[in-house]
Amino acid sequence: MNESTMDCYTSKISVLLLLLLSAMVLHKGKCSTHSCNGKDQSALLIFKHHVIDPFNYFSSWSDEKHCCAWKGVWCSNVTGRVTTLDLSNQYLEGEINLSLLQIEFLTYLNLSCNRFSAISLRNSEYQSLAIPSNAYANFSSLKYLDLSFNEDLQLDNLQWLSHLSSLKCLNLSAINLQSQTNWLQTMAMLPFLLELRLSMCRLKNINPSVMFVNFTSLATLDLSQNNFYSDLPYWLFNVSSDISHIDLSSNGLRGQIPKALLNLRKLKSLRLDDNALTGPIPDWLGKHQHLQNLNLTENLFNGSFPSSLGNLSSLTQFGVSSDSLSGNLPNSIGQLFNLRSLYIGGSLSGVLSEKHFSKLFNLESLVLLSAFSFDLDPNWIPPFQLREIDLRNTILGPTFPEWLYTQRTLETLDVSSSGISSINADRFWVLLANVRSIRLSKNKISADLSNVTLNSEYIIMNNNNFTGGLPLVSTNVFYLDLSYNFLSGPISHLLCSKLGREMNALYYLDVSHNLLTGGIPDCGENCRALALLKINNNKLGDETPSSMDLLNEGIGMDLNNNNLSGNSLEISNFKSLEYLNLAENKFSGVVPSKIPKSIQGLILRGNEFSGNIPAELCSLPSLRLLDLSQNKLSGSIPSCILNNSLLDGAGTIEYHLEFSFELFLRGREVVFQGGWVLGMLDLSTNNLSGEIPPQLFNLTQLSALNLSRNHLVGKISSNIGGMTNLEWLDLSNNHLSGEIPSSISNLSFLSSFNLSYNHFTGEIPLGGQLQSFDSWSYVGNPELCGPPLLTKNCSEEVNHEEAQQDGSNDSLNESFYIGIGVGYVAGFCGFWHSLLLSRAWRRIYFQFLDNIIDWLYVFVALKLNKFCELRASSR
Ligand SMILES: *[C@@H]1O[C@H](CO)[C@@H](O)[C@H](O)[C@H]1NC(C)=O
Ligand SMILES: *[C@@H]1O[C@H](CO)[C@@H](O)[C@H](O)[C@H]1NC(C)=O
Ligand SMILES: *[C@@H]1O[C@H](CO)[C@@H](O)[C@H](O)[C@H]1NC(C)=O
Ligand SMILES: *[C@@H]1O[C@H](CO)[C@@H](O)[C@H](O)[C@H]1NC(C)=O
Ligand SMILES: *[C@@H]1O[C@H](CO)[C@@H](O)[C@H](O)[C@H]1NC(C)=O
Ligand SMILES: *[C@@H]1O[C@H](CO)[C@@H](O)[C@H](O)[C@H]1NC(C)=O
Ligand SMILES: *[C@@H]1O[C@H](CO)[C@@H](O)[C@H](O)[C@H]1NC(C)=O
Ligand SMILES: *[C@@H]1O[C@H](CO)[C@@H](O)[C@H](O)[C@H]1NC(C)=O
Ligand SMILES: *[C@@H]1O[C@H](CO)[C@@H](O)[C@H](O)[C@H]1NC(C)=O
Ligand SMILES: *[C@@H]1O[C@H](CO)[C@@H](O)[C@H](O)[C@H]1NC(C)=O
Repeated sequence: MNESTMDCYTSKISVLLLLLLSAMVLHKGKCSTHSCNGKDQSALLIFKHHVIDPFNYFSSWSDEKHCCAWKGVWCSNVTGRVTTLDLSNQYLEGEINLSLLQIEFLTYLNLSCNRFSAISLRNSEYQSLAIPSNAYANFSSLKYLDLSFNEDLQLDNLQWLSHLSSLKCLNLSAINLQSQTNWLQTMAMLPFLLELRLSMCRLKNINPSVMFVNFTSLATLDLSQNNFYSDLPYWLFNVSSDISHIDLSSNGLRGQIPKALLNLRKLKSLRLDDNALTGPIPDWLGKHQHLQNLNLTENLFNGSFPSSLGNLSSLTQFGVSSDSLSGNLPNSIGQLFNLRSLYIGGSLSGVLSEKHFSKLFNLESLVLLSAFSFDLDPNWIPPFQLREIDLRNTILGPTFPEWLYTQRTLETLDVSSSGISSINADRFWVLLANVRSIRLSKNKISADLSNVTLNSEYIIMNNNNFTGGLPLVSTNVFYLDLSYNFLSGPISHLLCSKLGREMNALYYLDVSHNLLTGGIPDCGENCRALALLKINNNKLGDETPSSMDLLNEGIGMDLNNNNLSGNSLEISNFKSLEYLNLAENKFSGVVPSKIPKSIQGLILRGNEFSGNIPAELCSLPSLRLLDLSQNKLSGSIPSCILNNSLLDGAGTIEYHLEFSFELFLRGREVVFQGGWVLGMLDLSTNNLSGEIPPQLFNLTQLSALNLSRNHLVGKISSNIGGMTNLEWLDLSNNHLSGEIPSSISNLSFLSSFNLSYNHFTGEIPLGGQLQSFDSWSYVGNPELCGPPLLTKNCSEEVNHEEAQQDGSNDSLNESFYIGIGVGYVAGFCGFWHSLLLSRAWRRIYFQFLDNIIDWLYVFVALKLNKFCELRASSR
């Protein structure tokens, strides 16, 4: 081909292209004449008008383009009418205007995973929708409706749904349907429904008064994570002969599994996990030949494990756990040749042999959490190659089993608490190097780690007998827990050795409770990713350079209980530090005053810090835990202390990640967790003098306050009554005086209380739980009187009153006992209170709130009953 023919050739192509292009333009032009139906477009615009759109998703919804070209909108290429609207996952807020239902040919509507907070039903025609109005749609086109995961959306009216008579697939999961008692009635009017998902809807009633549930074609029913707390409803077993998937997990369901389950002949997947089902695991379940997925974990089944389940030849996933089951797993389980995932937990026990695994050729995940022991030939070659092995709490030891070395595709291995003490070091570390996640904790494995190089991403090896120096870590290692072993030598061996050119990925390192020596290494360059470092309870002993270059971008460091020293520590270069524990060391000089603003917990207890408490502590907006106890601090408590911090409710917290550190507070182990709103101030055992600044009694978020063993004077402000979160209060061994303010009886969460050895005067206020504490809480105040100080009542002063009313003893007794009762329950509530405020809990908190309140109510009632009985019998 020469140049000219080439030109010719290309020009031919361009002509062709031009023709094609114009054809397309024409085509498009033709389409647009009838494409965007005016009614469809105006319905969409009304909808848009009510939506808040923070990321400007609707920018393409302009008049310049016709609506079939709008983002998220699709039209039929035949009729040009809107058929599909998918606006899922776009951070949309505001109101869903049901004008959308006027789009006659809409078959697919997906608004899931947004933040809509209302569905407007303002139009009265929609509310009473007994007869569909002509002005609105015929409603019969919509087949797919997905409104799930709009967590602020509450539906009080489902009537409009019952008119969507072509609906095949309805998903309202994670929408609040709390107020719906008749939800089933509405859904049952949708004759073509194939899939119904109402998971996490806070539904309460699984057995509403419907005589007939006629979902003739329903195939999938997902009612998981609601609040039913009842027996399995009978309608379920007549629901539809085509049903293949039922998910009723996490519903608090009770009672036995009825035999009517056998009616559902096409059932492939049945999830009943995380309920309170009782009775035996039925023998007849073995007849359910089509079952592929059967999950019965976390229930209250009793009796033994039926061997008939070995007949469920289609099973691919199978799980059972209950703490009332007894006996061994039958051999027949080894016949489930399709099984890919087996999960057995709870109180089963016994010896597992090769027969239990004989035909499990397809097994990928083996989770056995009961106290099984194993009788396997040392040369046994299993029929499977597993991805996941979890045998924690079984009796595997004392030697790491040979057959585990045959598994070459392992991704996760958990053999914690399984009695292993010896390993074949040559093969063991090679096996582990290729596994991504490893848990070996709570065994007695003896091995020298000096020459080991770890390579897994996630490694938990705490509580073993590992000795020698710290291992090396490859650049894959992200999370490493080696705590509670006998490792020695310097920490720099692990942190500062460079393997390969890439930077260390290590993010979490726990080497606490070992025998490590040396100092804090100075190789921050090598471990930029390190965010959480725990070296507490070791024997680190060097002088720490006044400015540490480790963890510059870290979040938490625990050096508690070592022998570290250093004068005038600088911590200002830890830019994002949230938690620092230097307790029980030999640090001296003044308390560091340049503290990163991000700090949430600062613990300097048990060192040799001296001088005043720096006023800079007042400007830490996130601080909620300050422990300066057992130092040599003097002067007065700065009057601004912790003002404008989280503790007076003013600060805000930025959560970075979940982390936790153990703390010892009044001899109890308390876990400080990212996101846990627990305020503590401990300045005890110092030489502090002067008055307690009155602002301190305004820190309403404080849950522990310890100022004991100082030289403080003055009174307790009556504002203390506003510190309603207080659980621990210790002001003992000071020179405080005046009366105990009666408002202190408002502190209903108090579980530990000490005012002893001061100069308090007058009567101990009555009420609340103040009398429920031991008299030790008040001793050493010679001028204090009243219960529980039994040796001394206030009768000298109130003699005349006693003469007036002789029945007073009874009523005093009554309030005394009720005081104890409420105090006891309140202490307990305090525990729950802080638990509930933990972040993990909060997420599920609202879902369970109602039940917890019910439960607490019962608890309180029982307790009070007990006290009444006690009182009656003591008469
Ligand atoms: C309409 O689109 C569908 C799917 O893209 C296609 O299968 C069908 O042939 C098209 N019909 C016409 C008339 O273009
Ligand atoms: C709706 O959209 C979400 C998120 O994009 C998707 O996961 C879901 O499958 C869609 N729903 C239906 C019914 O297709
Ligand atoms: C939708 O919005 C229009 C106008 O903003 C309003 O008149 C109508 O009542 C709303 N539709 C519904 C179903 O609430
Ligand atoms: C709704 O439309 C369908 C077909 O589009 C029609 O068969 C049905 O009769 C209509 N129903 C009403 C109540 O208008
Ligand atoms: C809602 O349920 C449908 C039908 O089961 C499913 O296809 C869809 O993925 C679900 N939506 C989301 C957001 O999970
Ligand atoms: C359920 O609905 C189908 C179709 O709508 C109907 O044929 C059948 O008779 C109904 N069954 C009962 C028991 O009402
Ligand atoms: C059963 O459900 C639980 C959650 O409740 C899950 O952790 C487990 O993996 C499931 N097991 C099987 C075999 O499906
Ligand atoms: C570690 O390796 C070094 C050098 O190869 C060797 O001298 C030492 O004995 C090994 N230590 C252990 C505990 O195996
Ligand atoms: C574990 O180490 C401790 C202390 O070094 C020792 O007393 C114990 O015998 C060891 N246990 C085993 C099983 O090796
Ligand atoms: C403490 O709070 C009370 C009531 O909110 C307020 O009147 C008082 O001024 C505050 N005291 C101090 C010292 O901030």
